[in-house]
Amino acid sequence: MTAILGISAFYHDSAAVLILDGRIIAAAQEERFTRKKHDSNFPANAIRYCLAAGNIREEDLDYIAFYDKPLLKFDRLLETYLAFAPLGFRSFRLAMPLWLKEKIHMRRVLKKNFKAARRAKFVFTEHHESHAASAFFPSPFADAAILTVDGVGEWATAAIGSGENSRIQLHRQLRFPHSLGLLYSAFTYYCGFKVNSGEYKLMGLAPYGTPRYTDLIRKHLVEIRADGSMWMNMGFFNYCQGLTMTNHRFSELLGGPPRAPESQLEQRHMDLAASVQAVTEEIFLNMAREARRVTGKNNLVLAGGVALNCVANGKLLREGIFEKLWIQPAAGDAGGALGTALFVWHQLLENPRTLSPDDAQEGSLLGPRSSNDEINRLLLEKSVPYKKFAAESELLDEVAALLAQGKIVGWFHGRMEFGPRALGARSILADPRVPTMQSTLNLKIKFRESFRPFAPCVLRERAENIFEIPPGTESPYMLLVAAVREMFRARISDNDRQTMQNDPDLRQRVNVVRSTFPAITHVDYSARLQTVDAVRHGRFYRLLKRFEEQTHCPILINTSFNVRGEPIVCTPADALRCFLATDMDALVLEDFLIRKEDCPKNVAAIERDKYLATFETD
Ligand SMILES: [Fe+2]
Repeated sequence: MTAILGISAFYHDSAAVLILDGRIIAAAQEERFTRKKHDSNFPANAIRYCLAAGNIREEDLDYIAFYDKPLLKFDRLLETYLAFAPLGFRSFRLAMPLWLKEKIHMRRVLKKNFKAARRAKFVFTEHHESHAASAFFPSPFADAAILTVDGVGEWATAAIGSGENSRIQLHRQLRFPHSLGLLYSAFTYYCGFKVNSGEYKLMGLAPYGTPRYTDLIRKHLVEIRADGSMWMNMGFFNYCQGLTMTNHRFSELLGGPPRAPESQLEQRHMDLAASVQAVTEEIFLNMAREARRVTGKNNLVLAGGVALNCVANGKLLREGIFEKLWIQPAAGDAGGALGTALFVWHQLLENPRTLSPDDAQEGSLLGPRSSNDEINRLLLEKSVPYKKFAAESELLDEVAALLAQGKIVGWFHGRMEFGPRALGARSILADPRVPTMQSTLNLKIKFRESFRPFAPCVLRERAENIFEIPPGTESPYMLLVAAVREMFRARISDNDRQTMQNDPDLRQRVNVVRSTFPAITHVDYSARLQTVDAVRHGRFYRLLKRFEEQTHCPILINTSFNVRGEPIVCTPADALRCFLATDMDALVLEDFLIRKEDCPKNVAAIERDKYLATFETD
C-alpha cells in the first residue's frame, strides 16, 4: 500500500489530505480543529486526523507532498522587492523574518514535524500544478482542459493546461503581478472588505450595482488581451511594494478613498462591485475560450480561488464554451493539499485513474464523523435533554415537520465537508418560503446584518425545473449561480421595485419578496444553488425528500453551521455550543434531536457575548 500525505500551509487555509493507493481517505482544513478561521499554521491537527482516519502511523507514510515551492516563492518576493526598491522595503522587511525562520527551509520544517516518518520522501509541487491536479484528477473526465486562476502562487497567477487519463500538463501561465485574483482582491480591499475572505461579499454586493466603472477599469487598470491574458497597470496598485492593495491614484481614479471596514455601504460601492464582477467575468470567459482553443477539449475543470466565484462559473456554464464543467470544491489553497498528493500518485508514480460517473471527491465529505455514543456522552455530561430515534424515518419526519413550521434547525450528520461550503453535513437549515427567514437567520443565528440572501439546496431531480440551468446540470458543491425561473418569480409592485433599485438600506432591498422562495433569491433573481442527490448526500437527500413530501417544496436554505467569523463546526461539542449561543430552534446530532424549548434555560446573554467575542469578524 502507498500512503501519501498532502499538505498546504503557511499562506492561508492550511489543510492536510491522506491518499491510500490513490483513494482519498481523509481531507480537512486546520481551521476546523483550532477554531481559528483561515488558520495558516502548520496543520498538525488536520494531519493527526488524517492519519487516524486511515488507521496508519506517521512511519507508514511513503510520501509527504507540499503544495508549493517555497524557494520559487521567495524568488518572487525578492525580485519584486528589487524591482520596486527601495519602496517595497517595509513590506519586504515584515515578510522576511517568517520566511527566513521557516518558509524558505520548508524541507527542514517538514522533517522536524515528521520525525517518525523515516522512509517518507518529500515532494514539492508548484502551486498551480497542485491546483490543476486537484481540478483534474478527482473529476469525472478522462480528458479535459484545465484552468486554474487565483491571486498568486510562486509566480503564476493563472494557468491553462490539459489532463489526459493520469497525466496533466500546463501549457500557458500568466505571471505575477498580473492577476485576476489580485484584481478582485484589490476591489475587495477598496470596498472595505477583508482580502482573502471578503471576495464573497463583493460578489454578493454586485447585483445591487450598475457596472458603470467597467470602461474606466478597462481603460486605466487592466488591459484584456485577445490571447486570454491580462495586463495590469501597476501605477494604480500597491501590492508589490506596500501593505495595501491599491494606492492614491486608484482612489483618485475611482472617486474617493477606500471604504472603512464596517462603515455604511454606498451605491458607489455596489457599482464598483458590479463593475469588477463584469470585468472579471469577461477575463475569466476569455481565459476559458483560450483554454478551449489551446487544448481542443470538450470538458473543462477549474480550481484556484477565482473558481469560487460562482457567478462567473454560472456564466461560463451558460455560455457553452465547454460541454461540461467540473469545479474542485476546495478550489482555494486548502485544495492544494489534495492536488499535490494526487499529483504524486498519478503523475510521479504513474498510477492510472479509475473514473467514477460522479467524481472521486465523495461529495467532499472527507472530514471527521462522530458516533452516537460520543454524542450521548456529551449530552449527558452537559445535562441537555434529548430524544433519540431508533429509526431514521421517524427522525426525518419530525425534522421535516419542524422545518415546515418555520423552525431553524442545526443539522450535524456524517463526515464534515472539505472546502469552504457547508454541504449538508454541518449546516443550518430552514424553510426558504418564509419571507422573514432571511432576516431572522441573519440577526438571531449568524449575528450579522447581511445584504446577501442565503443559498438553496434543491433535490437534483427538481433543480432544472426551478432554476435556469441546462438540462442535466448538477451543482453538488454549491459552486454555480443560476436564476430562479420566470414562473416562480413574484410580481413586484412599483413601490417594491423602487426599493429594490434605490433604497440605501440594502436590508430593505433584500427583503422585497422576489420569488416563491424569497430567502434564497437575490435582487437579480439569482441563487447560489447546491443540487442534492441520493448517492452523494444520503440522509441529507432523504431529509429534503421528506420535506418536499410534507410541503411540496423541494428546497431548503442551507447555510454553514457557524456564527459570523467562526469556522464551520467540526465536533458535536462545537455544534452544541453554537446551538446554545444562538436562537436555533432545534439541533440534530446524528440520531439525536434536541429542542431549544426543552433545554433548562438559554445560555445567559453574557455567555453568548463571550462566545461570539471569541471569533474575529470576517
Ligand atoms: Fe492558490
